[in-house]
Amino acid sequence: MADKISLTMNGQEVQAEQGDTLLDVARAMGENVPTICYHDATTANALCRICVVDVEGQRVLQPACIVHAAANMKVQTRNEKVERSRKTILEMLSSTMDLSDAPEILTMMDDYGASDERFPEAVRRESAVIDDNPMFVRDYSKCLLCWRCVQVCAEDAQYTYAINFDGRGYETQIGTFFEKSIPETSCVLCGQCVAVCPTGALKPRRQHLLEQGSTPEEISVLNTGRKRRK
Ligand code: SF4
Ligand code: FES
Repeated sequence: MADKISLTMNGQEVQAEQGDTLLDVARAMGENVPTICYHDATTANALCRICVVDVEGQRVLQPACIVHAAANMKVQTRNEKVERSRKTILEMLSSTMDLSDAPEILTMMDDYGASDERFPEAVRRESAVIDDNPMFVRDYSKCLLCWRCVQVCAEDAQYTYAINFDGRGYETQIGTFFEKSIPETSCVLCGQCVAVCPTGALKPRRQHLLEQGSTPEEISVLNTGRKRRK
């Protein structure tokens, strides 16, 4: 059996297994530490920093999804410093992208009193919806670059490598190699990327068409036409 370690979280002494992250410990205690880039099906990579917690003796806040619990650590999962940081991250996200299909993040915005008017000069990510395959559409104006879709398409699940990061700096976005359409890539339409996307940037095509006002009958005709064209 793995050695146990003792640490203090929110003033309460707790036991953790060696290798547990601070997020694991918090969840075991029933503490609500928000996550965005981390998903139970993906490897934590600490891209979004919404899960930061305050560890005594550390100059900067620590991402709970990757930092391991250590003996005698003293951790606060929510205090003024943590709240300010999470609120700013949420306000930066809401100023630069469309969160209308991201209910969990909208709930976080309410929880942290985040305003979507904090950074009015921010440049918003704009992108036309890409509808190039029978299963899902891509709307990168709703993408926060959490990397979950890339991870499940690669080593975390499917080993297909159909999508990856594209571009650099501000221009970074999720894309396919040489901007090929999905049917021209190695994609097998497994749908795992859609399942882990937290913002609706990847969405089932049927759902997208229904939201656009198409009827089920019209969608059926569209799909038949798509098959015939091939
Ligand atoms: S498309 Fe969705 S899952 Fe992929 S990086 Fe963007 S927000 Fe994350
Ligand atoms: S959830 Fe930990 S950094 Fe994104």
